[in-house]
Amino acid sequence: MKTIAFFDTKSYDRESFEKFKSDDLNIRFFENKLNEDTVSMAACCDGVCAFVNDNINRNVIDKLESFGVKIVALRCAGYNNVDLKAARGRVTVVRVPAYSPYAVAEHTMAMILLLNRKLHRAYIRTRDHNFSLDALTGFDLKNKTVGIIGTGKIGQVFADICKGFGMNIIGYDPYENKDFCGEYETLENLLKQSDIISLHCPLTHDNKYLINEESISKMKKGAYIINTSRGKLVDTGALIAGLKSGQVGAAGLDVYEEETDLFFEDFSDEIIHDDTLSSLISMPNVIVTSHQAFLTREALSAIAETTIKNLNDFFENGKSENEISI
Ligand code: NAI
Repeated sequence: MKTIAFFDTKSYDRESFEKFKSDDLNIRFFENKLNEDTVSMAACCDGVCAFVNDNINRNVIDKLESFGVKIVALRCAGYNNVDLKAARGRVTVVRVPAYSPYAVAEHTMAMILLLNRKLHRAYIRTRDHNFSLDALTGFDLKNKTVGIIGTGKIGQVFADICKGFGMNIIGYDPYENKDFCGEYETLENLLKQSDIISLHCPLTHDNKYLINEESISKMKKGAYIINTSRGKLVDTGALIAGLKSGQVGAAGLDVYEEETDLFFEDFSDEIIHDDTLSSLISMPNVIVTSHQAFLTREALSAIAETTIKNLNDFFENGKSENEISI
């Protein structure tokens, strides 16, 4: 039996992983995030299971290797939080490449509908018996242009949803997807033409701050920016400046560049020491959700099933089809 240290456990993770548990794996659930301070909890384990805000840097990999940990099983698609170069040949890293593109794409559209039709404000008003419609005017999505940056699995599903709304769909991606239902454009043209820009690409060394002061200045005045991908794709300072000037009409953020110590946790009884986030949250045309776009029953089940399979395949055959450390 192999022992797995499962970091950053939440009740919904435990429920879904217990449904798919295997007799060959003994999973130890820890609430702590995996980082240099907590890595010692993986001593005597054969593998670790980690999530988006665990920090698996070179020092953590050194420690994992010294404890005899053979595998890091990411229960997510993105892997910008792992030093793959450090892991190569020492600790195998696997991930869940796809679980439910629908979950993220549907959350993206939910954010657009909420921001455009001011549902967050209407909800609070009517609870206070305020039935005024002042400042709740939205716009029809039909015939508006949505620019999708990254037309892989999630971008493609999101484009299909937008098609149902009768939107004009344009996309930018260095690798074109034949099943994408929109027209490809250069990034420059996409920025200029879109009423709504939605990010669906991974965070890499090259695209940090893809949305910055310059790219925002090229957008249509009042364009919406939706980010359900990774926080560092957007320069938050530039976004706030754009929101203040009206150049950006609204922002829907499921991810935030400094989310690591905040998202997934409850700070409702505390003062948050992040003025940038507080400033965003205070704006009536911004909605922040705490990296919840993936959170559907279907996605959680798929994540648990694939992660358990990745671990079993690795311990049985020494390899997994979802290895990324090769
Ligand atoms: P995917 O790998 O199927 O598609 C990503 C696409 O982005 C690819 O077609 C790729 O060519 C393209 N791309 C790469 N660099 C680009 C760039 N600089 N500009 C434009 N396009 C670029 O990935 P998938 O499954 O669609 O996921 C996309 C992202 O969504 C993930 O990388 C992850 O960051 C994020 N995500 C967020 C979740 C959440 O809960 N908020 C859950 C799952 C994924």
